[in-house]
Amino acid sequence: MSEIDLESITIEIEEQLARKAYPADFPDLPPVPTGRYNSPAFAELERREIWGKTWLLACLADELAEPGAYVLFERCGVSVIVSRGRDDVIRAFHNVCRHRASAIVQEPKGKAMRFVCPYHSWSYGLDGALLSVPEKHNFNCLVKAERGLVPVRCETWRGMIFINLDPNARPLAESLAPLAAQTAGFPLEDLIVYDRYSIEIDCNWKLALHNFLEGYHTTTVHPNTLAPYLLPRSFTVSLLDHGHARIAVRKSKQASLYSTDNGASDSVSDVFKQYAISIGCFPNNFFALDPNGFAIQSFWPVSETKSVMDIHVVGPKSAPSSPEYWSEMRKVMDCIAAEDLRLFQGIQNGVQSGAAPDIMMGFQERTPYWLEEEIDRRIGLDRVPAGMAIQQVLQSQSVS
Ligand code: FES
Ligand SMILES: [Fe+2]
Repeated sequence: MSEIDLESITIEIEEQLARKAYPADFPDLPPVPTGRYNSPAFAELERREIWGKTWLLACLADELAEPGAYVLFERCGVSVIVSRGRDDVIRAFHNVCRHRASAIVQEPKGKAMRFVCPYHSWSYGLDGALLSVPEKHNFNCLVKAERGLVPVRCETWRGMIFINLDPNARPLAESLAPLAAQTAGFPLEDLIVYDRYSIEIDCNWKLALHNFLEGYHTTTVHPNTLAPYLLPRSFTVSLLDHGHARIAVRKSKQASLYSTDNGASDSVSDVFKQYAISIGCFPNNFFALDPNGFAIQSFWPVSETKSVMDIHVVGPKSAPSSPEYWSEMRKVMDCIAAEDLRLFQGIQNGVQSGAAPDIMMGFQERTPYWLEEEIDRRIGLDRVPAGMAIQQVLQSQSVS
């Protein structure tokens, strides 16, 4: 797969820096109805058509390095065990015992060569098979072969492990195909997970994600943290098929936001050193491919008005590995995130106030607009409740 072309991205960014007017060939972006951010009916459509049918990032391969390693995915109202089998195959199962439906695994991650239910000790193999039932003679019609754990679709893309609650979903590789060229030259397969944590957010998941998909707020919100490292006005975007996006911003000084050690990583192509390349991976993931480490951020709904952001702090093998480096990086990331987070409750209050029937997105906010368009396409344009639909204007601008 060919990589992002350094020369063409340089031209794109020069043109963006020189631009003084709204691009003549770009459509207007109509206002976005705020009902999308507080309506139970809209959230229910998302639950069914987005969370129930889309590939969802569960964990990274590094978290399941050995047979028996497991991670519990507990978002969107489901509990799913993702684990590496004795045969090295990564599988996912609903974390629901086939006896009387107890949750089986309770720790967020761990290692087990079999899963034993804490209620009556039925046990299951890493392949989901029901292995043992205490006092089995008391179950006259139990066929063990028919009562294995219920599987969930689970596929891996470049070291990132996704699940899909829809047995009929198209393959993960097809869904993420538009990201292949945009991430080629960055060793995603080798990412090491240095930290994993979650942050509760006081707004709808889409409002939180919007913030990370645009650079318009950088100068105002991050004047001393992000703004000195990036040229916010150089922000360019490729809108990609299936709701994904690739963002490129010129770096002002060094190759990494977190380290002045520009010699890091021969394994990373130059384009990622020269430019801050970020990926919006539909529906809810965002990451900036920094050669010296970065955060993979995933936004999940908790209710119409609350969400949670899961963060994987990762780095290529060639990035610095000392614990001090990663704890320093966490401090920088927490500081930048805090600058964003303090605004979210106020945004949610605003969209619920009745004073803002809609919000506006400009040309440099076309990435969140693209996200919203794709959400409606997935829900089905004829199913979006009246007054909540976003106008479909960007499809002619996307590249596959
Ligand atoms: S509910 Fe799991 S063994 Fe009874
Ligand atoms: Fe921000």
